[in-house]
Amino acid sequence: MPSAPIAVVTGASSGIGAATARQLAAAGYRVVLTARRKDRIEALAEEIVAAGQQAMPYALDVTDRAAVDEFATAFKTIAVLVNNAGGALGADPVATSDPADWRQMYETNVLGTLNLTQALLPALTASGDGTVVVLSSTAGHGTYEGGGGYVAAKHGAHVLAETLRLEIVGTPVRVIEVAPGMVRTEEFALTRFDGDAEKAAKVYAGVAEPLTADDVAETITWAVTRPSHVNIDLLVVRPRAQASNTKVHREL
Ligand SMILES: NC(=O)c1ccc[n+]([C@@H]2O[C@H](COP(=O)([O-])OP(=O)(O)OC[C@H]3O[C@@H](n4cnc5c(N)ncnc54)[C@H](OP(=O)(O)O)[C@@H]3O)[C@@H](O)[C@H]2O)c1
Repeated sequence: MPSAPIAVVTGASSGIGAATARQLAAAGYRVVLTARRKDRIEALAEEIVAAGQQAMPYALDVTDRAAVDEFATAFKTIAVLVNNAGGALGADPVATSDPADWRQMYETNVLGTLNLTQALLPALTASGDGTVVVLSSTAGHGTYEGGGGYVAAKHGAHVLAETLRLEIVGTPVRVIEVAPGMVRTEEFALTRFDGDAEKAAKVYAGVAEPLTADDVAETITWAVTRPSHVNIDLLVVRPRAQASNTKVHREL
């Protein structure tokens, strides 16, 4: 029996990454779960294996290029790389936001994606049918006040995906960008506001149904499981209550 194709998911310790890992495992992939918090990816891998599917944890900081290169040596072929690790820090205006936050967001959302993609591209190509997914955001396609550093970083992730698609056309690797709008995950807004639960809750206040991590994981899994000649270049997915980054219907 041929072994299951491998899918690497970054940021699999929570939110969209964890949901994507579960769904790709259920779709028949051997899922490699990566994130910095080892205990969480170990627990998720155990849960997936207990369900009769295949998963293994690997603790990895996507900004640590030496560690990423070491990780890549473990694989001859990889079918799918989901570059999901990332997030936002702060919501201050450009005039007063912290450059350290901008740097960290660029490091994680852009260079993290670059590190994994560069390191795993040979194994993705060797699979004869590879897929790179870049989780950008609607923040990668339009701006909003207080979004500065995150918007800049996600535009960077978007440009990385578009450029890579142009450069590797003709090789057996496709590049899919998934750009979600408002998704209520346990940690995204908490991380953004440095653990301030009140500020985090305001992001979703009065919004009837923000997207869930599972909603986004479904769109990723759908895009990844299309026949290999089909490339979903860009998939923008928002809750019905959100018409744009700045136009959100709230029942308050
Ligand atoms: N929630 C939203 O509204 C929304 C909307 C559009 C796009 N997105 C994007 O979707 C992705 C997932 O978001 P989410 O809502 O699921 O956020 P989340 O729950 O905060 O998850 C972020 C994940 O990224 C990982 N991560 C952060 N820095 C990392 C690093 N240096 N190395 C390795 N892993 C790292 C975290 O794991 P560890 O801390 O364990 O390392 C965690 O698993 C992000 O790229 C985010 O920007 C989110």
